[in-house]
Amino acid sequence: MQIPGDSGAPTAVIVPVGEIAGAQSRPSAEQAQVLPERALRLAVVVASVREGRLGAAVASWFSDEAKRHGRFDVDLIDLATASLPLGLTNDPPSELMDVTSRLESADAFVVVTPEYNHSFPASIKSLIDWHFSQWRAKPVGFVSYGGRSGGVRAVEALRLVLAEMHAVTIRDTVSFPMVWETFGDDGRPVDEEESAAAAQALLDQLAWWATALLQARTRSPYPAHA
Ligand SMILES: Cc1cc2nc3c(=O)[nH]c(=O)nc-3n(C[C@H](O)[C@H](O)[C@H](O)COP(=O)(O)O)c2cc1C
Repeated sequence: MQIPGDSGAPTAVIVPVGEIAGAQSRPSAEQAQVLPERALRLAVVVASVREGRLGAAVASWFSDEAKRHGRFDVDLIDLATASLPLGLTNDPPSELMDVTSRLESADAFVVVTPEYNHSFPASIKSLIDWHFSQWRAKPVGFVSYGGRSGGVRAVEALRLVLAEMHAVTIRDTVSFPMVWETFGDDGRPVDEEESAAAAQALLDQLAWWATALLQARTRSPYPAHA
């Protein structure tokens, strides 16, 4: 279901290098054209709505990693508190508009998802199904967790769905197999160093794609025919 109100392409992007976190040297004129003049807007979606869920702690840790990365403004969208009616209607209900506008303004997404029955939870499918243009030509990364698989089957299933949305999914992921052993009660990964390195690698790729796609959408509208 497409929600009206796609505000179209973002504004043009030129940046002084000194404002880019981690920048070592002045970029070439060509590089400057593809760098955003503002922080990239990252929506981190908490897919689990289960009572007693571990997802909120995993998402909170990852959001801190995203803030530490330096390229992102982070908006945590918790589907446990979002209003997502199961019944799709032609006119989206007003209570959906808050989450719709937050997806709309995002340059990139990370879905924090558990694996349920070899796939993803119904809540994230509902969020996807209520929207369309909000995902289009934007990158989506994944943080997954579960039993032995670490949630990778949920991620692979989500890649198929998000391709239909014309989204671009990021190859590298962060995953927590046997999450009840690999993620601590203190809200931190047990192997903090390795997990932080995986998160930063994902965020590097996400920032690259978010910048490239922001620039591409600015140059010309994405030719979606459906
Ligand atoms: C309904 C349900 C189905 C599950 N199916 C799987 C599964 O197929 N594979 C797996 O690795 N873990 C599975 N699990 C384990 C969950 O991934 C694990 O409990 C995780 O903590 C759930 O995320 P949450 O705590 O944020 O809800 C399942 C859990 C639930 C509640």
